[in-house]
Amino acid sequence: MVPTMGNLHEGHLRLVDAAGEHNTSASVVVSIFVNPTQFGPNEDFERYPRTLAQDVERLRSRGCDAVWAPTVDIMYPFPAEGRIGVTAPAELADGLCAGDRPGHFDGVVSVVLRLFSQVLPHAAFFGEKDYQQLQIIRRLASDLSLMTTIHAVETVRESDGLAMSSRNQYLSAAERETAAGLYRVLQEQASTALHASSAGTLLRLQRSGIEQLQTLGFEPEYFEFRHAGNLARLPDPDSVHSGPIDPTALRLLAAARLGSTRLIDNVALVRQK
Ligand code: PAF
Repeated sequence: MVPTMGNLHEGHLRLVDAAGEHNTSASVVVSIFVNPTQFGPNEDFERYPRTLAQDVERLRSRGCDAVWAPTVDIMYPFPAEGRIGVTAPAELADGLCAGDRPGHFDGVVSVVLRLFSQVLPHAAFFGEKDYQQLQIIRRLASDLSLMTTIHAVETVRESDGLAMSSRNQYLSAAERETAAGLYRVLQEQASTALHASSAGTLLRLQRSGIEQLQTLGFEPEYFEFRHAGNLARLPDPDSVHSGPIDPTALRLLAAARLGSTRLIDNVALVRQK
């Protein structure tokens, strides 16, 4: 299964490819549902692009066997007060995309659990672009002993490095040129971080990443190194427990606004061989 909110681009289609390659004899189901419970009151739920006919057409050519496109009433037959809810664990929904979007990951885990109960997939595929979401969904599956194995697929990028996203189409031509800077700054700071071994140095790299993004014209929301597995924050550099850090255990994650568009991206800290 590949859960999506539709308006499919090459990034989604690669998830479909990965699902098909994972088990060639299984059916691939793509769900398309713009989930209201993961949007905040002032977010882009209303203007989120809905392009079902075009999505189905794209999926036809990519080995998708069925599309599940439920209505809001099917997904949420009871009003908010009557619903069973699941909540994302506080230790993973700690800052990053949860900081400015309270309740966002509760909406994500609630809808993913519902989609899994409807489709009963043995495997589900998610993009690494939404890295915090991926870790939270992994926890959902392991904590609730779901029968679904979660698979991660690398972020698909435009030729200048911008991570593919349905929200990129909100960018003006000038913003679109600037947008690739987010990935560039992430890569530069991540490669410098490979030589760092203290929390103090990594915190300085975070601050300089934020300044670089501001200089390019972004309004950064966060630019943070976190533990790649459990998303733990860097230790306080002044703490007596703050020993040396292995930078390869970290992930660098960022969110920044360009005009009214919110972009997110992240990179692994990998030593080149
Ligand atoms: O990543 C998305 O598109 C959504 O958050 C998801 C996982 C389909 C849940 O609505």
